[in-house]
Amino acid sequence: MTSLSVLSVTSELFPIIKTGGLADVAGALPFALSHEGVQVVSLLPGYPGVMKALGRTEVVRHYPSLFGGPARLLTATSNQLDLLVIDAPHLYERPGSPYLTPDGRDWPDNARRFAALGRVAADIGQGTMPGFIPDIVHAHDWQAGLAPAYLHYSETPRPGTIITIHNIAFQGIFPANMLYELGLPPHAFTVDGVEYYGQIGFLKAGLRLSDRITTVSPTYSKEIQTPEGGMGLDGLLRSRSKDVVGILNGIDESVWDPSMDNALAASFTRDALERRGVNKQALQRRLGLDEDPDAMLFGVVSRLSEQKGLDLVLGALPTLLQDGAQLALLGAGDRTLEESFRAASIVYPGQVGCFFGYDETLAHLIQGGSDALLVPSRFEPCGLTQLCAMHYGNVPIVSRVGGLADTIIDANEMAVASGAATGFQFSPVNLTGLIDAAIRAKMLWSDKAAWRCVQRNGMASEVGWGRPARQYAHLYRSCLAEA
Ligand code: ADP
Ligand code: GLC
Repeated sequence: MTSLSVLSVTSELFPIIKTGGLADVAGALPFALSHEGVQVVSLLPGYPGVMKALGRTEVVRHYPSLFGGPARLLTATSNQLDLLVIDAPHLYERPGSPYLTPDGRDWPDNARRFAALGRVAADIGQGTMPGFIPDIVHAHDWQAGLAPAYLHYSETPRPGTIITIHNIAFQGIFPANMLYELGLPPHAFTVDGVEYYGQIGFLKAGLRLSDRITTVSPTYSKEIQTPEGGMGLDGLLRSRSKDVVGILNGIDESVWDPSMDNALAASFTRDALERRGVNKQALQRRLGLDEDPDAMLFGVVSRLSEQKGLDLVLGALPTLLQDGAQLALLGAGDRTLEESFRAASIVYPGQVGCFFGYDETLAHLIQGGSDALLVPSRFEPCGLTQLCAMHYGNVPIVSRVGGLADTIIDANEMAVASGAATGFQFSPVNLTGLIDAAIRAKMLWSDKAAWRCVQRNGMASEVGWGRPARQYAHLYRSCLAEA
């Protein structure tokens, strides 16, 4: 096995900076790839949280001017990950999330902030960093989309380029008149370059100009090639279909390990599932729910957004909560959804308990303490919470889309009888679908032995990074061989 080096270009990385699953992927994949002979260095913007998390750093390059101010490229190691960090205070030293102001609007200079990420990635790809010349530059999502573009338009030899779509709903579209400022040549502004419906598309550029395109599940790789799922990019993706591949995400089994999880009130294994009861009680207490071991407890751990279909959960509440069942919700995002769930917790005291915000510990407790996890997404590139749920004996109830379709085996009669079922799927994604699935889940839950069996199947499912890492390593090697 020849060794290979990869520059992973990402705007998030767990545990340093996270708003969603991209961070989990970017944080876990490098470890898994190290077992496949692939050395990964991750390039990350120096947001305040990132700068704080770095220990000893070394300056490897000075930029007198990087999109409007001086910057430095630092190397560091954090949680055993090799990092390159762009220290550019004029772009990144500010409060709020990586993408949004504290009051929830896009930072007005996001084009420059993430062009800088792409520019520095391309420079490293062109061998400007002593001691590290990547064979592959692997860009994640629109924020890294210009990396392959800068490399494409450079006149020098370049490494192989790959872009991964974690969510095609976010595309990074900016005015055409920024072309010069972004350091792109005039001839880049064509349909075969960065132009996207008269503007500049960062994701579009990455998809057009990378050697290969991946996304995070096989089903999503097909959905994004249809007008319904492609959000304007389906034509381009169809034209490149032989270069598009879906590789399912895994979860980090050292972070998500129910037998050794400090966030739980009681750790447990597949053979000691009764210990989950202690977590259920702790969760009920934490969220002000009635401490009733016999109440079926539905959980939600999610961004609150249109994508995640949680308005359907609101609509289904009367059915879900029948017979004294309960809902534990952890979510952050859309204010209207938040208000609606807050109102529901008042209408159903002791039956609906919510926490609004980001809370890693509570996310673990919900996975280890609730009976079934609701994931009614309208679209879901992969989804990680259903994988965590399976791994924690929490039975997922999911819509049959994207990665949810690829990871859950529906508990239909045959699958229950043959011992294959790992959860519940519904389609189409609407209220009736969710209600039907919830009713089926409630019926199975009343058969304790059958329910246990579904829990155990989920816990025995392979959800780690081993297999996906082998697929990425194979992809990198084939990309390189072609180059
Ligand atoms: P997405 O990336 O679309 O938000 P995923 O299911 O891929 O969805 O990943 C979500 C990740 O974020 C999971 O690790 C999940 O546990 C975590 N998560 C989501 N919402 C919260 C929250 N409010 N608090 C803590 N963790 C959360
Ligand atoms: C995106 C998707 C989610 C996926 C995650 C990591 O945020 O919405 O489905 O699991 O990226 O790839």
